[in-house]
Amino acid sequence: MRIIMLGAPGAGKGTQAKKIAEKYNIPHISTGDIFRANIKNETELGKKAKSYMDQGMLVPDELTISLVMDRFQEPDARNGYVLDGFPRTIPQAESLDAALKESGSQIDHAINVDVPDEAIVKRMSGRRACVNCGATYHLQYAAPKKDGVCDHCGEGLILRDDDKPETVEKRLGVYHDQTQPLIDYYAQKGVLKEVDGTRDLEEVFGQIKKILGE
Ligand code: AP5
Ligand code: MG
Ligand code: ZN
Repeated sequence: MRIIMLGAPGAGKGTQAKKIAEKYNIPHISTGDIFRANIKNETELGKKAKSYMDQGMLVPDELTISLVMDRFQEPDARNGYVLDGFPRTIPQAESLDAALKESGSQIDHAINVDVPDEAIVKRMSGRRACVNCGATYHLQYAAPKKDGVCDHCGEGLILRDDDKPETVEKRLGVYHDQTQPLIDYYAQKGVLKEVDGTRDLEEVFGQIKKILGE
């Protein structure tokens, strides 16, 4: 099964992608998580990505596309994946299409997690993230068992540099300009599915399970 998660920053793409990956036994591929791991490890890619990310801008397509194409070569991605945060521009979607065509496969579902902008800014200030394993928490809606510590791997949790309110506003603007057009792109392919991302975590996952089949 090949799934794309669409939605604004903070809509809950990562939260739901993790649940999908676990239940359907496919890898969760998040470009944001890969960039953050590279920043943490101070790689060349990380240095390049950080300057864009901290400003709420997109990392250039060429860097992002080659990163994802490399990830697709790993054996666990052969039979499917849930893509979270990619594609994010029309050129990225076209590159993905070209790669799929070459391997004779296709996207089964592009799931749009719909949340209005007002709700997003509120959510982001309460988010805490684990840079080690990519798990995401929320101080109010999805608190870790122990304050400031990841339930899965025991690493310390951080507030992301790009979750400051002014950067969130910028990311929302970039989303509306560059990423929202993908909703039509996948609607035209007949694979677009919508879920109401304002509902609680488990309810949103319930809607997704109906789409994917229990
Ligand atoms: P990325 O890491 O992908 O960030 P994003 O798309 O802005 O999305 P987020 O991770 O902020 O939100 P999410 O939808 O995953 O929400 P989450 O589940 O955490 O990208 C970061 C940056 O990297 C980009 O700005 C860009 O610079 C660069 N980048 C990445 N990919 C790129 C690409 N393809 N091309 C170019 N540049 C790229 O949930 C948010 C919070 O809400 C959490 O605290 C969560 O616990 C809580 N929550 C989730 N669901 C619910 C719910 N139903 N009810 C209440 N709370 C909820
Ligand atoms: Mg995310
Ligand atoms: Zn962790």
